[in-house]
Amino acid sequence: MYPAVVAHRGASAQRAEHTLAAYLLALRQGADGLECDIRLTRDGHLVCVHDRRVDRTSSGRGVVSTLTLEQLAAFDYGSWHGERARAAGMAMAEPGDGPVAADAERGLLTLETLLGLVVDAGRPITLFVETKHPVRYGGRVEARLVEVLARYGLAHPRHKEESRVVMMSFSGHAVRRMRAHAPTLPTVLLFGRIPAARRDGSLPPWADFTGPGVHLLRQDPDYVARSAARGNHTYCWTVDEPADVQLCQDLGVRYLATNLPDNTRRLLQPA
Ligand code: G3P
Ligand code: CA
Repeated sequence: MYPAVVAHRGASAQRAEHTLAAYLLALRQGADGLECDIRLTRDGHLVCVHDRRVDRTSSGRGVVSTLTLEQLAAFDYGSWHGERARAAGMAMAEPGDGPVAADAERGLLTLETLLGLVVDAGRPITLFVETKHPVRYGGRVEARLVEVLARYGLAHPRHKEESRVVMMSFSGHAVRRMRAHAPTLPTVLLFGRIPAARRDGSLPPWADFTGPGVHLLRQDPDYVARSAARGNHTYCWTVDEPADVQLCQDLGVRYLATNLPDNTRRLLQPA
C-alpha cells in the first residue's frame, strides 16, 4: 500500500526521538520503514542524533563530533521527552506496549543497534538513513556508513528494489559520494527548496528518489506527477497533519515520513 509509512526518528511524537524505544514502538505500530539521522563521534562511531549538539535531546551538553562514544553514552536521551509529555498530559506508555528496558527508553542509539533491529524485524523494513553533516565530516560519514552496512550485508544489494537501506541527504555531494561507494544502494536527494533547474521533476543521475518537504507539495502539488513522469518516485517529509497525509495519498507519494506512524496508518486505511 502506498504511501508507505516511514517513522521519522521512530515514533517520535510518543517516544524520545532516535531512542530504541521510539523505533520499537514504530515497528509495533506497523510502520513500513524507519528514518534516522546519523553523525560521527570523535572516535569514528555512527550514532543516531539529529542536531549538531546533544543539548536538546539529552541530559548532556556538547558537539557530537567532539565527544567519544563512551562520553556520549553517559547521557540520558529519554527523560527530556518524558517530562515534556507529562507536562502536556500525554500518556507515556500505552496498553500493549509491554515493558521497555530503561536502556531502550534513555540510551544512546548507535546505527549498528538500529540495523540489528531492522535485520531481525521478522518482516521487510526499509531504513532511511540521513547523513549529517556532510560538509563538516568531509565524506567520512558516507565512507563509514558503507563499512557498517557491509558488516550487515546491506551495502551492496543486488537490485535497488530489494534494498533494506536507503541513503538520504540534503547535500548533493554526500549523495554523489554514496553512489560512488555503493552503486546499487538507493538514494534520496532531500529538498527544503527545489532549485529552479529541478522543478521539472528531474534529478541528477546519482539520485533515485526526490525528497521534498511537505510544504513544497502544498505549494506545487503537480511536482509529484512531473517527477513520476521522469521515473522518479517521491519521499515526502514530515507529514503529520491529516490534510497533508491525504494530499500525499492523492498525489501518489511513494514514501511518507511521519512522527505519528500509528495515526498516519489509520488515516491511510481505505474507508
Ligand atoms: O526525512 C527527512 C527529514 O528528516 C529531513 O529533515 O531536519 O528532520 O532531518 P530533518
Ligand atoms: Ca532526518
